[in-house]
Amino acid sequence: MIVLGIESSCDETGIALYSESRGLLAHCLYTQVSTHQIYGGVVPELASRDHITKTLPLIKETLSRASILHNEIAGVAFTLGPGLSGALLVGSMIARSLAYAWKKPAIGVHHMEGHLLAPMLEQNAPTFPFLALLVSGGHTLLVSVKEIGDYEILGESLDDAAGEAFDKTAKLLGLPLPGGPHLAKLASRGEKGKYHFPRPMTDRPSLDFSFSGLKTFALTTINKELKKLSKDERELPEQVKADIACAFEEAVVDTLAIKCLRALKATGLKTLVIAGGVGANLNLRQRLIRDAEKHQFQVFYPRLEFCTDNGAMIAYSGLQRLKRGFVDNLSVKVLPRWPLSEL
Ligand code: KG4
Ligand code: ZN
Repeated sequence: MIVLGIESSCDETGIALYSESRGLLAHCLYTQVSTHQIYGGVVPELASRDHITKTLPLIKETLSRASILHNEIAGVAFTLGPGLSGALLVGSMIARSLAYAWKKPAIGVHHMEGHLLAPMLEQNAPTFPFLALLVSGGHTLLVSVKEIGDYEILGESLDDAAGEAFDKTAKLLGLPLPGGPHLAKLASRGEKGKYHFPRPMTDRPSLDFSFSGLKTFALTTINKELKKLSKDERELPEQVKADIACAFEEAVVDTLAIKCLRALKATGLKTLVIAGGVGANLNLRQRLIRDAEKHQFQVFYPRLEFCTDNGAMIAYSGLQRLKRGFVDNLSVKVLPRWPLSEL
């Protein structure tokens, strides 16, 4: 059984073909970073337009890379939500049209379920049950995963998601898009201990997060440093920016790690899965690998390119849904706001 996956929830067009017997056959990704760069953030209308021009050529390219004909495809999976309405509509419309033309089912996939199952694309995949830390631009979730489709949310961000905090702080530091990876790069040149950021909500037993205060703390720190500049200096020295980035990243990583450990202890689970864009952060990965050795649990990640948005995770999740008989009718719909708990 082979499933075509289409991801179009934000600023990445991701296409992939996943086979039940042979695994990932091919995948293609187009990132719109350069389109949105001058605006300092994703412009929804421009995102939709880019998906319109890129989706079909990428599907053709993916079929050709996999040497697959469309009649070998058992179903067309697409991101049904959450995400930007217009961007989702493009993927949904194309997926449902192809499914109609090919007389195959269309399968709507929850974007965060896609992220959650991305580590299953690896040879060294985790086994159920596990604890998942889902950290992306829109979500920060701690989920107890019993099996595919059985998800219990243990904690979530009460305000900004971890990726959102990275992006907003990167903007304050004058960094280009995508903010998270640029901030991480700058942080690697920073000196540890120059600044100390708080670890929000770690003094409470709950498994929820709050990251908006860290962004405000970064702003206050930047303003304090700006006041120290002489009249002819307009910008903070690179080293000061790097030291601030380093302290910010350390605070996010530490906070996430503290809550993961707490959730593992509370649930008795021995396997941790990290997924979503912030899961590409090397310091977060290294910290959790060290914690895993120290506290005797196993940790799994998708490869870096499958932490951020991609078609492979949608094709894989779609195949799992198709096998279980979850298919959609052919009416075009999207769910821009769709909590994982409602899945
Ligand atoms: O999962 P994703 O591609 O899209 C959403 O579903 O939101 O995540 C994107 C987020 C952005 O906020 C981006 O800045 C962040 O992941 N990100 C990172 C890194 N790579 C991507 N944050 C910190 N360090 C990174 N290396
Ligand atoms: Zn995502």
